[in-house]
This record gives sequence, structure tokens and C-alpha cells, in this order.
Amino acid sequence: MTGTALEALKSAQQPDWPDPVGLATVAGLLSELPPLTPLAESDALRARLAAAARGEALLLQGGHCAEEFGERALGEAESTATTLRQMAEIVSYGAAVPVVPLGRMAGQYAKPRSSPTETRDGTELPAYRGDAVNGLGFTASERTPDPWRMTTAYDTAARTLDRIRLLGGPDAPDGLPLHVSHEALLLDYETPLVRTDEETGRRWAGSGHFVWIGERTRQLDGGHVAFAAGIANPVGVKVGPTATADELLALAEVLDPDNEPGRLTFITRMGAGTVREVLPGLVEKVTAAGSPALWVSDPMHGNTRVAPNGRKTRLLDDITAELRAFVEIHRELGTHPGGLHLELTGAHVTECVGGTDPVALDDLDLRYTTACDPRLNRGQALDLAFLAADLWRPDR
Ligand code: PEP
Ligand code: CO
Repeated sequence: MTGTALEALKSAQQPDWPDPVGLATVAGLLSELPPLTPLAESDALRARLAAAARGEALLLQGGHCAEEFGERALGEAESTATTLRQMAEIVSYGAAVPVVPLGRMAGQYAKPRSSPTETRDGTELPAYRGDAVNGLGFTASERTPDPWRMTTAYDTAARTLDRIRLLGGPDAPDGLPLHVSHEALLLDYETPLVRTDEETGRRWAGSGHFVWIGERTRQLDGGHVAFAAGIANPVGVKVGPTATADELLALAEVLDPDNEPGRLTFITRMGAGTVREVLPGLVEKVTAAGSPALWVSDPMHGNTRVAPNGRKTRLLDDITAELRAFVEIHRELGTHPGGLHLELTGAHVTECVGGTDPVALDDLDLRYTTACDPRLNRGQALDLAFLAADLWRPDR
């Protein structure tokens, strides 16, 4: 689908750009830049995800909720990538299958919001929508959407990829220690970065190897689904507790019409208290209809709480409970629990509660640096990896 045809569709969660001339100029610039990720690398990832969909591998997707611009964030991305690779080794050892590490990085610069505005002390401003759109600071100038930020997003993604490639390693597929992914939310960024392979005519998103559609933008008749349907990359869809099997079947029909393993991943984020009620019926019906979709658990987005000090947080106990239930449900159904999707950082932040080197509710203010949702710190992420290694043990 062309950019103009996409614009005619309703797309949720798009910014109100105040500068249409700037927006058009930026779209033109982005459309002339080299793709950040080549089609061949997306294809290689897709082949690895196909193995996961067949039950022969696991996906480990993780990184920040919202990446930020700037030098400090580049360093943090590097330690996050290293943490993710270590986790993959731990899980792979326990599960005795290859684990595919997939960063939420080099493109995770746009966020869906539950409210378009934020009010503090009687002042109402546009909500922060990610560094690709506006600034986190609570001032009118920072919060005004600026299309030129999308060129900085491209540059920062390119520099992040350079850093990741340098991490190298002999086991790195295609010279890449991990592939990268982000939510394809901001269509004014994604659409101009679509490229066409001259030989085959295949179109792909040049913004990252894998992209997903969020829980708030998976409308069947919306712009995000149309965008994902038109690209050759492997794609994901977040699935929350209100999803129905019919909705997922319709999405599978549009996004994976030929039932190709590796093309489509359902990332379920139900909440520890809801997962047993909702997930079995969805997996059962979608699988019975012949969809080879990969199922992975995001045990974080259904388990966000507000701490007494007002901070958004997540409890390791809730995360663990949802992940455990996810694996058990698949085992009961005879389907493959295909992996996990986590918000984490290699830094020693205090954003989630619990762990073997525990963060307490009272500690949250110490190093709470996320621009959006609370992330596991490095120690908590490794705790989760050891838990996953045990949950996926072949003799269980
Ligand atoms: C996210 O992954 O940061 C996110 C917004 O998730 P969801 O679409 O599942 O709410
Ligand atoms: Co998040």
C-alpha cells in the first residue's frame, strides 16, 4: 500500500504535527536515506523465527520501553544488548534449544499513550509520545511534536546499530550479535523508510528487522495493520486480555495469508490474574484454524501497578506468575510456548520490585530513569532468564 493510500485509513495514536511543511520535508529526506536494516537480515531473522514457530527454538525479545536520544542512551543500549545476549545463553542452556535474541532497540522511539494530554499543577500539555515525536520535559516547547525529531531518530538508530554490530562475536549471525525490533507506531517515520527490492519487487520496512503492532493500534481496518500487511519483515502483534479468537484469526488472515512459519508472532500480555482465563481459548482456536503463528509471552504490560509513591512499577512476582502460566498453558494444550518479550536494561535501575538482589517499593525513587514504563534491571533480567531456563527445561 502506498503512503497516500495509508493516509486515507484511520490510524490511532498519531501525533498532531503543527508543521505540515516540515513534515513533508522530513518524509522526503527519510525516503532518500539508505535502509537501516537490509532485507536479507530480516529474512535471516524470519528463518530463525520459523524454527521457533516449529518448536525448535525460542525468541527472547527485550529492551527499553522507550529509547532516548543522546550519548548516554547509546551506552545504555550497548549494555542492554550485552545483557540480552547473556540471557539468551542462560535460557538456551536450560531449554536445550537455540534462543534468538531480538533487541527492542534502534527504533523504539515512539509510544502510544492512554491520554493525548498530561496535566500537572493545572497545566495541560500534549503527552510525551517518544523522542521521535516530542520531548519528555514538561514545557510547551518540548511537548510540541516536531517532525525533525524523526531525522534524529534515524541517526540515533543508525549509531545504535553501529554499536551493536561492534559487539560482534563468533556466534553472531550475519555478523550481528542480535537483530533489532520496535513498535511500528509512528507511520510518518515507518512509511518513508519502506524500500523495494529491485530484483524481486518485495517491499520491506527499512526501519528495523522486526516490527510489531501494539495493543492499542491493532484495529483490523486501521493504518498499522495495513502497513504491516504490506512489508516482508517478520511482524508481531501485541495481544491483550480483551482480544477475541475471531480478531486474531482475522489478523492472521491479513498478516500471514499463506500460513508461513516465522512471519507472524502473537505477543500476549494478559496480566497474571487473567492469563489462565483468556489465553487457552485464543491459542486453541487460532492453532486449530491452521495458523503457524509463534506465541510469546510479554509478562510485563498486563502487570503495571502504581506504587504508593506514585511511581509506575511491576512486581517480579506478577511477572513470574504470568510467565509460568503461559508456559503451563501451552504445555497443557500441546502447543509451543515460543519465548518471551521483556522490558529491561543493562543498567542498575530501580523501577521494578523484587529479585534476588531485591528492589523494594521504598527503593523506587533511587534510580528511576525510564522515559516510559518500568524496566527490569540487569540483575532482575538475569533472574528472569534463570527462571525461564528452568520453565523451559525439556524434562519438565
Ligand atoms: C510496549 O510494548 O511498550 C507497549 C506499549 O505495549 P502494549 O502495546 O502491549 O501495551
Ligand atoms: Co512499555
